[in-house]
Amino acid sequence: MEFKNLLTKIENGILTVTINRADKLNALNKETVSEIHQAINYAKEHVDVKGVIITGAGPKAFVAGADISEFTGLTPAEGMGMAQAGQDAFKFIENCHKPVIAAVNGFALGGGCELAMSCHLRVASENAKFGQPEVSLGLIAGYGGTQRLIQLVGKTKAMEMHLTGDMITAEQALFLGLVNYVVPQAELIVRCMEIHERIKSKSPKAIGGVITSINAYFTEKIDGYQVEIEEFGKCFGTEDFKEGTTAFMEKRKPNFTGK
Ligand code: COA
Repeated sequence: MEFKNLLTKIENGILTVTINRADKLNALNKETVSEIHQAINYAKEHVDVKGVIITGAGPKAFVAGADISEFTGLTPAEGMGMAQAGQDAFKFIENCHKPVIAAVNGFALGGGCELAMSCHLRVASENAKFGQPEVSLGLIAGYGGTQRLIQLVGKTKAMEMHLTGDMITAEQALFLGLVNYVVPQAELIVRCMEIHERIKSKSPKAIGGVITSINAYFTEKIDGYQVEIEEFGKCFGTEDFKEGTTAFMEKRKPNFTGK
């Protein structure tokens, strides 16, 4: 995998994607959004990849938003096209059947907060700051931020964050349920790897079923309870299920193959 704006590495079955535009606080230009989409697709397609970590280069920013320099001169139709591409990429992350963890190592503003929210879990370093400051630019969030922030923190705080554009600290994000953990910056990737190790010991088929069923709750016109019934049923046709139940009966650890 060769990218212009991303660094990637695979270690212990975990693909780490580092957005590598530190001089621009890892702002998301169109090309970077497209490359993130491609990197997640790589994870989806390759059996040796069991999960993903997304982070930003440098100690200061995860992603400080969409690249504002690309906004100049856009027409309303072009603005919609930009939002569509961002939403497509972030929905692709959200629906990836392998777990994606955001390692939020600093500013997660605008598109950065939206990117983190599209991941399945979020671990923040103590210096992280979250916000949806688009109104300061005469804009609103376009990469799913108005929808996902409500899902994660509720309408009261989502409305306040989008209306004021104010940033919140990592501790406040933890209190609101926007992140799973806050850790010292030096421990950020280690903690994400530890979480992946815990998930990796489980059935990949079942993990995919959990992601599909939980996402269904938030998908319009989809009955999440029905999706859960279907995903539950599918488990009974997998080798992972046979292995998991057999291992339990034989009082040993399961060895899941993801089949
Ligand atoms: N798009 C494009 N460039 C950005 C950017 C963005 N979203 N955020 C930061 N940068 C660039 C700056 O222009 C600057 O580039 P330069 O050195 O070529 O001038 C560089 O990153 C460093 O940013 P700077 O503003 O100097 O850092 P700071 O520590 O003073 O402030 C922030 C940090 C995050 C508070 C500030 O950069 C900021 O407000 N960024 C925009 C956040 C935003 O509105 N995001 C939503 C976009 S829709």
